Amino acid sequence: MAAIAGDFQDHIVRRYDAPMYRAMLEVYGDQIHPGFVRAPDDDLLTASSRPTARLAELAELRPGRHVLETACGVGGTARFLADHHGVRVVATNISREQLAIAAERTRPGAAISFEFADYHALPFADASFDVYLCQDSLLYAVDRPQVLAEAFRVLVPGGTLAVSDILAIEAPAGELVDVLGALSAPGFWSAADYRAGLARAGFVELRTEDWNAEVLAGYRRIDAEIAARRDRLVALAGAAEVDATIARYALWLRAVAGGCLGWGAFVARKPGAK
Ligand SMILES: C[S@@+](CC[C@H](N)C(=O)[O-])C[C@H]1O[C@@H](n2cnc3c(N)ncnc32)[C@H](O)[C@@H]1O
Repeated sequence: MAAIAGDFQDHIVRRYDAPMYRAMLEVYGDQIHPGFVRAPDDDLLTASSRPTARLAELAELRPGRHVLETACGVGGTARFLADHHGVRVVATNISREQLAIAAERTRPGAAISFEFADYHALPFADASFDVYLCQDSLLYAVDRPQVLAEAFRVLVPGGTLAVSDILAIEAPAGELVDVLGALSAPGFWSAADYRAGLARAGFVELRTEDWNAEVLAGYRRIDAEIAARRDRLVALAGAAEVDATIARYALWLRAVAGGCLGWGAFVARKPGAK
């Protein structure tokens, strides 16, 4: 299948390729997702590593396993997995700018390779990975069943899928309808949608974990960090870009605080023996 283009996908690539996103690494550190905040002064690098550690634990990673990470951001998750679990990672993204930053940040000799790949149309042979992992990025998929079909195809029989994502909780009402539309044009899946989508793709569910209790503090922390670094971000990316980013994160906060969005993790197995 040819890579899916589409306006929304182009918009997402432009966002992650832009200088503003390089600047945002001053806020996030290395991993671009909310964290599990445990203390008011937790830095985001520490907080955002906790859901990664939990997802890796749920996936039961073992040294030497061959992991495909899709939508890898700047490679923070891949480095965490290789360093803490001894796995070999192929980390993929459609943002060439982020792939370049990922390579800059990765020590030579690390068991990680970075490759351009759209998660809707993976350039890998059938049954080539033990684990498929994706953190907080399938919300941008324009065809999520196709993404799960690709995950299923590239996993070996008995292989494991581990995905976390921002999830729909309640149907939005009033102004929150537009807020959610602005955040993810394809629309969010609920936990039930994910479980049904995974089953339709052929997966056997192993574990679903509800992270809803973490998500509001996670987004509040990101907002606070952006506000604290506004001058520095403006120097790096310009006031217009920073203000647009602040406005977008305010939408995230409204959607989460309004009870429309939550967070969760899904672990499933491709049937068959390894
Ligand atoms: C919120 S960031 C998360 C990055 C990374 N997973 C992390 O947690 O640090 C979303 C990522 O999804 C990537 N992305 C969006 N659409 C994609 C697609 N169709 N195929 C591959 N990556 C995609 C973006 O380029 C970006 O790196």
